[in-house]
Amino acid sequence: MIERYLDTEELKRLLSVLVVVVGCLIIAALFGSLIIPGLRNANRPEKPTAIEPVVGESGWLNPEEFPPQRGGVIAPVDPKTLMEPSATLVERGKALFEGNCTQCHGSTGKGDGPAARTMIPRPRDLSVPAEWKNGYHLPGIYKTLTEGIKGTSMAAFDYLSRKDRMALVHYVQSLGDFDHGAGDPQALEAMAKELGSAGDIVPNKIPVSMAMTKLQQEYIAAPRLSLDPGEQSVGAGILRQVIRDADRAGRFLALSPSWKSNFHSLSVSVLANAPGNGFSLRVATLNAAEWQELHKELLRRVESE
Ligand code: HEC
Repeated sequence: MIERYLDTEELKRLLSVLVVVVGCLIIAALFGSLIIPGLRNANRPEKPTAIEPVVGESGWLNPEEFPPQRGGVIAPVDPKTLMEPSATLVERGKALFEGNCTQCHGSTGKGDGPAARTMIPRPRDLSVPAEWKNGYHLPGIYKTLTEGIKGTSMAAFDYLSRKDRMALVHYVQSLGDFDHGAGDPQALEAMAKELGSAGDIVPNKIPVSMAMTKLQQEYIAAPRLSLDPGEQSVGAGILRQVIRDADRAGRFLALSPSWKSNFHSLSVSVLANAPGNGFSLRVATLNAAEWQELHKELLRRVESE
């Protein structure tokens, strides 16, 4: 049909123009979606993470150290949702039991875990109702988990959240096919009240080695920056101008020793962190000669310690 209006020559030209236009569009789209975002990220500095993972000698996470965790508050829960067993609770309980309890209690709760062999008393068979110390009703098992059992290897698991402890309680009950009873109404009520009170607070956790390094760092001797107005040297004068908080500035210098190598490193690290590091924003107005003086002055003070 279209041939009626255009001759073949013209049609060919039209088609080739169309091919070029579509080709250009595709290239532009690729450029926009792949290359520009790539370029935009190319120069972005790697985001520093506040907390570094703990890597052992093998290059893997050190198994003796737990990874750092940010703390928080676990919102309070409606106790009613925890008093009755549910599939989710029992499933969570099973996972927790496998991670925390089977080494002693065995995978089915019969007290035949690998660690139980030498234990006195041995963990009981949780699947039979034979005279439990704290009882096998809800408040009984909850008490066992919260307080442990004195004189045995059964430790308190009070660091697990209340919800997790309740999940374990239901899972322990599911291990024994017998009537677990409701428990003393008063004890039940007290338990419900505790479960419903304020949310659990989970503190920040950092690995032990990291805590030790931090402690050591805090006690590294800092250069004495106390500003004696009697000191007349040029360096002391500059120091007086740029120090806002002598203690903090001293600690900052002690923790980033790279400043010692030359005045350039000093200016880079001080400028990047002022005024949080105890230096005032006036450092931004120092010229190279003044940085040199400041550097000499600081070195002199560190060496005279
Ligand atoms: C280090 C070994 C060990 C670990 C780990 C352990 N238990 Fe126990 N548990 C014991 C021993 C020992 C007893 C005391 C003997 C007994 O009465 O069964 C006990 C007792 C109990 C009882 C019986 C309480 C009663 O009223 O008599 C329950 C329930 C129980 N543990 C649950 C748990 C749960 C749930 C976990 C995991 C969160 C756990 N245990 C982890 C060793 C352990």
